[in-house]
Amino acid sequence: MTAQIIDGKAIAATMRQTFKARVDLLAQRGERPGLVVILVGADPASQVYVRNKVNGCLAIGMHSEKLEYPADVAPQVVLKKIAELNSDASVHGILVQLPLPPQFNEQEILEAIAPEKDVDGFHAENVGALLQGKPRFIPCTPYGVIKMLEASGVDLVGMDAVVIGRSNIVGKPMAALLINAGATVTVCHSKTKNLAEHVARADLVVAAVGRAKFVTPEMLKPGAVVIDVGINRLPDGTLCGDVDFAACAAVAGQITPVPGGVGPMTITMLLANTIEAAERKAGLR
Ligand code: GUN
Repeated sequence: MTAQIIDGKAIAATMRQTFKARVDLLAQRGERPGLVVILVGADPASQVYVRNKVNGCLAIGMHSEKLEYPADVAPQVVLKKIAELNSDASVHGILVQLPLPPQFNEQEILEAIAPEKDVDGFHAENVGALLQGKPRFIPCTPYGVIKMLEASGVDLVGMDAVVIGRSNIVGKPMAALLINAGATVTVCHSKTKNLAEHVARADLVVAAVGRAKFVTPEMLKPGAVVIDVGINRLPDGTLCGDVDFAACAAVAGQITPVPGGVGPMTITMLLANTIEAAERKAGLR
């Protein structure tokens, strides 16, 4: 079997086309969707992600800016800025790029963002709403995965799904979304015994472990849908996911590549969340 490739880049491009009309309608109502991204420190990967987020907004006529702070900034300085942005009517979305340096309490920073501007969906109020099945903002990466599955005609109802990874950013919200969609969900992680046994039963595998080529073809049920959330840099400088793509494509039914899979969808869903925030403010939803 050769798996069908789920082309995240193409799905993302189609979705972004539809966003322009929504941005234009908002502009006519005097509401230009605006996202502020806060970056603390100079982590090279975070710098690339933040640049792509800001450019993604600008490309569809939204406003976006990056606020940069040195790695040793006092948390109070960032908290004060977040308070200012919370009451700035031209800002619809606020995102603090993670991870933060050790002097920060990440949860304290995330809780300081006004829930109605929390386009990452990381505020406790938004996490709770998602778990209750009434989401306001869905975290961008798992939201993107759900949209890719929808676009690929995958019916999640009754599926056995295995999520590998239990982070607040991907694994936990991914599990909640799959439950809400009617799948039977197992969450595996670094302490899971017999991981291979769980994965072998899965109709859907979402890999978010952060280890290159962690998922191998022997682990998979033939025909399984395989979603690769990982982005790892190999010693030769090339990018590689958490799934051994070339080998797994011979066993899977559908599979996402890296790059060109989940990555483009994450930023697309950030744009969607920011537009939604502006639409709510304008009374359009
Ligand atoms: N770091 C890695 N992924 C994310 C994300 O989705 N949002 C934020 N804020 N930081 C991240």
